[in-house]
Amino acid sequence: MRTIRETETIRPLDLSRYRHLFLLTGAGISAASGLSTYRGPGGLWTQNDVARIADARNLPDSLPDLWRLYRGRREQALRAEPNAAHHAIATLQRNASSGQTVTLVTQNVDGLHGRAGTPQVVEMHGSAFRSRCRDPRCPTVPFPDTNLYDETPRCSVCGGYLRPDVVLFNESIPREILGTILRALASCDLFLAVGTSGVVAPAAEFVRGAASIGARTINVNVEPSGNPAFGEEYVGPAEVVLPRLFGIVTS
Ligand code: APR
Ligand code: ZN
Repeated sequence: MRTIRETETIRPLDLSRYRHLFLLTGAGISAASGLSTYRGPGGLWTQNDVARIADARNLPDSLPDLWRLYRGRREQALRAEPNAAHHAIATLQRNASSGQTVTLVTQNVDGLHGRAGTPQVVEMHGSAFRSRCRDPRCPTVPFPDTNLYDETPRCSVCGGYLRPDVVLFNESIPREILGTILRALASCDLFLAVGTSGVVAPAAEFVRGAASIGARTINVNVEPSGNPAFGEEYVGPAEVVLPRLFGIVTS
């Protein structure tokens, strides 16, 4: 594995060589926008009992705490702005040549890729800016929602409780979303992970899949991952490394 540090010259990738690019982002890409990551120093999961609240097995008792958590996530994300890393990816997607596909899969629920103008993003863990009714018999579907609720909101159709439309621990990724991801992964020739600790399945497995079909695999993180499935690691902040990697700024 080749490790390149942000202090070294970062040569832009020759992106025209690749037909199917697969990008996977995690909380680290939004760190420069002021949003806390989940793990590591000051991470969300290290604060009080967030891991209990984000575990679907504790619903419905945990619903009031879950809304307090997601009210905070919504407020934080609404105040945040996309950073140079989000914009670099949006530019990459917009400049994709004909016949080239750029699949962007994010584990983040903060909506910053969309606000950076990314034409298409697969939000595999849902969105903090959507809510849905908890009652499976209710005819409503998940809907855009930026409300900052003071208490657990109710569904206007059936009166049941609403919940944030995110994937909690011990919940699966919706089948159609996972299908889209696995189809893109099966044909990628460049795999780029940005700002993810790579510890939560199924996202953590994607790089091995890409490596197994001979894709070039690159990791961008402030910490080296040590994951042998990555052929290259750029150790530095995504907001510095990505614009250089995509030739948007010169090192
Ligand atoms: N640039 C690049 N990487 C960064 C930066 C930065 N500026 N700042 C932090 N990082 C890295 C950290 O080193 C860490 O490896 O981002 C990663 C963030 O890891 P996590 O906090 O674990 O976030 P993520 O990988 O997205 O978590 C995956 O776990 O809890 C669930 O649903 C939650 O989607 C989340 C999933
Ligand atoms: Zn309902």
